[in-house]
Amino acid sequence: MPQPASAPAFAARLAAVAQATQAMLDGLLQPEALPGEVFRPQNLLDAMRYACLDGGKRLRPFLLVETAALFGVDNPGVLRAAAALEMLHCYSLVHDDLPAMDDDDLRRGRPTTHRAFDEATAILAGDSLLTLAFDVMADPQTHPSPAIRIKLVRGLAQAAGLGGMAGGQALDLAAETAAAPLSASAIMQLQMMKTGALILYAVEAGALIGGADAGQQAHLRDYATALGAAFQIADDLLDAQGDAARLGKATGKDAAANKATLVQALGLAAARARLDALVEQARTALQHAGFGPRAHVLDHAARFVASRDA
Ligand code: IPE
Ligand code: IPE
Ligand code: MG
Ligand code: MG
Ligand code: MG
Repeated sequence: MPQPASAPAFAARLAAVAQATQAMLDGLLQPEALPGEVFRPQNLLDAMRYACLDGGKRLRPFLLVETAALFGVDNPGVLRAAAALEMLHCYSLVHDDLPAMDDDDLRRGRPTTHRAFDEATAILAGDSLLTLAFDVMADPQTHPSPAIRIKLVRGLAQAAGLGGMAGGQALDLAAETAAAPLSASAIMQLQMMKTGALILYAVEAGALIGGADAGQQAHLRDYATALGAAFQIADDLLDAQGDAARLGKATGKDAAANKATLVQALGLAAARARLDALVEQARTALQHAGFGPRAHVLDHAARFVASRDA
């Protein structure tokens, strides 16, 4: 078992990736139109910047960057891929908060994008973040190999769309008004889609850029799948028990909206037990990948998911 990275070392790595991601996002969200574009409307750009900059744990960029780093790969292209993924995640949050979806007023400690701007602008900011993510991912500056870029783009499309995040969001909303409560396994599938898919993609993209072999890819996939499942259970526990001020978003909303969560289906203690078991599953899969001490940071990331309070 790799020795756990110390908490300060992990926090420093997370903060460093967050800072680098922020700088990359800032650079990508500038007013000058790029070749192939006509003009960048300022208000829409402002809403995109509002949704992306100055907040969030940046967990998905972190997982992508740290997975690539397992293979000694660390270059500006990796950060571009990480920033593209974060754009896609931020789009998912902007749309998740809309009145037609979770109807939230607070995100990352600030008014949600549709509150700070207006609904139409928030919808379009989400659309534009989603599409810019693919633009950035497909750019040769992200990776010199067209074959790798097409895999990055296709993987992101699959993680984000019908059979991934957006599909999971549809199931999440449908469950609110379902005639009968979802089973625990149906909830796990829904969550694997709405949340797990982008977390899995973060690790898969890092492994692809890093040049992982098939065996390493399989172990990393197991790690990320368990981590993604754990992450949403933690989110649901925090909704039930967390501190809204620390979280920067309202709590108690899942029960009020009749959301399908393991907290609702199994109760707090059993949901917590499932979370802890998934974290151990993730750590074991990582250990089997055989990276030794180099995997300390990702090992700590799994424990962070269980212990986080924001
Ligand atoms: C929130 O994601 C939405 C879920 C998938 C549970 P995060 O908890 O990663 O949100 P930020 O990016 O840190 O704000
Ligand atoms: C959101 O899940 C998942 C996505 C945005 C895809 P939640 O609705 O539970 O996320 P929060 O609690 O609003 O951050
Ligand atoms: Mg939601
Ligand atoms: Mg929500
Ligand atoms: Mg939630």
